[in-house]
Amino acid sequence: MYHNFNSKKYNCQLCKYKLYIDIDFLINKCYTLSEYKINMLIEKGKIMQHYYSESPKIKSNKGNIIYTILDKNIELITDNGVFSKSKVDFGTDLMLRVFLKNNKRDKFEFLDIGCGYGVVSVVVKTFFKYAKLTLSDVNERALDLSKENLIKNNILEFEIIKSDIFDNFGNEKTFDIILSNPPIRTGKETIFKIYEESYKRLNKNGEFWCVIQTKHGAKSTYKKLEDIFGKCETIEIDGGYRVFRTIKS
Ligand SMILES: C[S@@+](CC[C@H](N)C(=O)[O-])C[C@H]1O[C@@H](n2cnc3c(N)ncnc32)[C@H](O)[C@@H]1O
Repeated sequence: MYHNFNSKKYNCQLCKYKLYIDIDFLINKCYTLSEYKINMLIEKGKIMQHYYSESPKIKSNKGNIIYTILDKNIELITDNGVFSKSKVDFGTDLMLRVFLKNNKRDKFEFLDIGCGYGVVSVVVKTFFKYAKLTLSDVNERALDLSKENLIKNNILEFEIIKSDIFDNFGNEKTFDIILSNPPIRTGKETIFKIYEESYKRLNKNGEFWCVIQTKHGAKSTYKKLEDIFGKCETIEIDGGYRVFRTIKS
């Protein structure tokens, strides 16, 4: 199936979604498709690369977006090969608004896990100037954009870690607040590991927040968080998304 360029039937090796493609697999194993042809297919929307590729193969095509939250207009650079390129994702926006409304802390160690182009960190630091930021992702292009976006928004103090979940964090780092719009396309095993490892990385009374589409497994996420933390709060339900908050007692 992968070798027949004309069949127009592409299924991902990783997640079996039809439109998504493990591009590395195509380039390495499918000799009838050159990198150029693969880029053409991506550009025409015939196939899409996973946003969580380590080094996206799709040609860079940066753009600017303006994201308005409360009274702030935030300018961000986005690109092909990262999550939600054309506008800030509905779920991310919902989680951020609910977080801004409910967060009572002033100074806190903050982790933006799976940071994408860094919108969560830029917003948190814009509204909480004493937050200490750490950002992480597997996607190198996303990490480069995060750095650009932080600097563009005059945020100069931050730590960026390229890491599969917490693999490259060392043993010492812990946090007061972790926010996640989890990479559901990577599968339950990965997102449940994010929840489990986040619990271990939280300080006492530390909070883990996440947003997830109801149809993409919000119920199983709720149950898993309840198992790990003992209690999980549904803080908001809107537009088919749920925002959860859990606290490490
Ligand atoms: C749904 S996106 C959210 C991006 C960003 N936080 C936002 O809200 O726009 C999930 C992010 O997790 C990253 N990711 C996927 N697998 C990961 C892993 N194993 N460890 C860390 N980050 C991962 C993806 O590259 C992606 O940027």
